[in-house]
Amino acid sequence: MQNRDTDSRFIASFRHAAPYIHAHRGRTFVLAFGGEAVADEHFPELVHDLALLHSIGIQLVLVHGARPQIEHKLKAAGVQMEYANGLRITDDAALKCVKEAAGTVRVEIEALLSMGLANTPMSGARIGVSSGNFVTARPLGVRDGIDYCHTGEVRRIDSRGIRQHLAEQRIVLLSPLGYSPTGEVFNLSAEEIATRTAIELQADKLILLAEGVALRDSRRRLVAQISVNAADQLLGSRRRLGDATRRNIEHAIQACRGQVRRAHLLDRRINGALLLELFTRDGAGTLITADEYEQLREATIEDVGGILELIRPLEESGVLVRRSRELLEMEIGHFLVIERDGTVIACAALYPGDRNSAELACLAVHPDYRNAGRGDALLRSIEDRGRRAGMHRLFVLTTQTAHWFRERGFAAGDLAHLPKRRKDLYNYQRNSKVFCKTLG
Ligand SMILES: CC(C)(COP(=O)(O)OP(=O)(O)OC[C@H]1O[C@@H](n2cnc3c(N)ncnc32)[C@H](O)[C@@H]1OP(=O)(O)O)[C@@H](O)C(=O)NCCC(=O)NCCS
Repeated sequence: MQNRDTDSRFIASFRHAAPYIHAHRGRTFVLAFGGEAVADEHFPELVHDLALLHSIGIQLVLVHGARPQIEHKLKAAGVQMEYANGLRITDDAALKCVKEAAGTVRVEIEALLSMGLANTPMSGARIGVSSGNFVTARPLGVRDGIDYCHTGEVRRIDSRGIRQHLAEQRIVLLSPLGYSPTGEVFNLSAEEIATRTAIELQADKLILLAEGVALRDSRRRLVAQISVNAADQLLGSRRRLGDATRRNIEHAIQACRGQVRRAHLLDRRINGALLLELFTRDGAGTLITADEYEQLREATIEDVGGILELIRPLEESGVLVRRSRELLEMEIGHFLVIERDGTVIACAALYPGDRNSAELACLAVHPDYRNAGRGDALLRSIEDRGRRAGMHRLFVLTTQTAHWFRERGFAAGDLAHLPKRRKDLYNYQRNSKVFCKTLG
C-alpha cells in the first residue's frame, strides 16, 4: 500500500515536472548564492540539484559569495573590516583575506561539482566547470571623502567568453572578485555580478538564493509572482523590508528591465527550493516578471512601422525631429520600444556620441498611455544602457519637454556640451534647449 502511494506520488510529480523540464532545456540561468549557503551542512544537496539542472541541458552560470568566510579569515588574522554606507572598505590586509576566502570557497564548489550526480545512475557523468577572469572591475574610488580601496564595482562582463564555455556544456563559476586592466583585484558583490551577467548574457532567468529573501505580503503569505512595476512600487512604499530583501528586489528589477524575462528570489534554507521553484506550478519563492502583455525591449526592424505611427503626429507638431523611414530602418538598433498587445505604444533612442556621452532622442509615449510611468521606465532603461556602454553623460535636445527632464535630474547645458558630431548636425532652426545628466 505504502509503495503504491509512493509510486503514484512519484508518477504525478514526474508528469507534473515534465513540461518544465522541456521548457528549461537549453535555457541560460544565472544563479547567485551567498557564502552562508556554502557553509551550510546541506550545501552538497544544493550542488546536487545544480548538477541535476546541468544534466537536463540548462546552461548554468553560478556566482558565489564568501562573506562569512571572509569575516572568519579577517578575525583569524586580527584584521578589522571597516564599513561605510553599508559597503565594505577593502584595504590591503582585508584584500588578502578576501582572496584567500574566495579562492577556498571556489575550490570547495568545484570539488563538489566534480562529484557530479553521485549515487545516481548518472554518477559517472563528468561536469566541466570553468572559472576565470570573466569580470572586469573598477574601483568604487573615493566617495564622500571615503576611500573604498579594493572594493569595486562591475565594469564589464566577458559575455562572449562565458557563452563559449556554456556552449561546451560547462558550468561557469564566478567568484565575488573582478580584475582591472591594470592588474588589480577588486572585491565585488556576488549579486551585482549575477545581475550584470544575466543582463549581458540576456539570460532567461536570474535566480537569487539568499537568507529568507522571498517576498511576503502584509499577512505573511508568500508572494509567488509580482510584476516589475508592482515590485518597484513596493520598494517606494512604506512597507518594511529587510535590507537583503530590498537589495535583491532591486537586483531583480534591474535584471527584468535589462530584458531578463524572469527573476526569482528564493530562500536558500528551504530544502529543494530550487527544484520546487523550477519544476512545480506553485514554486517556493517569488517570481518577478516583466509584464506579460506589456514589454519594454530593444526594437527590431519589424517595429519601424509602429514607431513611425507613434511619432508622426509629434513630428508634425514640431515636438520631435522628422525621421524618414529609411533613416529609422538604419538606426533601429538604437531604439527601445514598449510594446503592448503587439502595438508599439512608446519608444526612445540612445545614440552614442564621443567623449563618453550619449544622446537620448525620440522619447515618445502614445497619448492614451501617458502619466503611468512609461516615460520614466524608458528613461531608466536608456540610462542603464548608457552606463553599460561606459557612457558618463546623457544629453537631450528638447523644445517642449524641458521640465520633464529637469525633474529627472537633467540640468540645462549649452551647445558646448554636445559631442562634436552632434554639434555639426545641430539644427539651429529648431532652437532646442540642451539638457545634460551625469550617469552615476
Ligand atoms: C514626455 C513623455 C515622454 C512622458 O511620458 P509619460 O509616460 O507620460 O511619463 P511619466 O508617466 O513618467 O511622467 C508623467 C509626468 O510628466 C509630466 N509631463 C508630461 N509632459 C510634460 C512636459 N512636456 N513637461 C513637463 N512635465 C511633463 C506629467 O504631468 C506627469 O507628471 P505628474 O504626474 O507628476 O503630474 C510624454 O509626455 C510624451 O511622449 N510627450 C511628447 C513627446 C516628447 O515631448 N518627447 C520628448 C522629446 S525630447
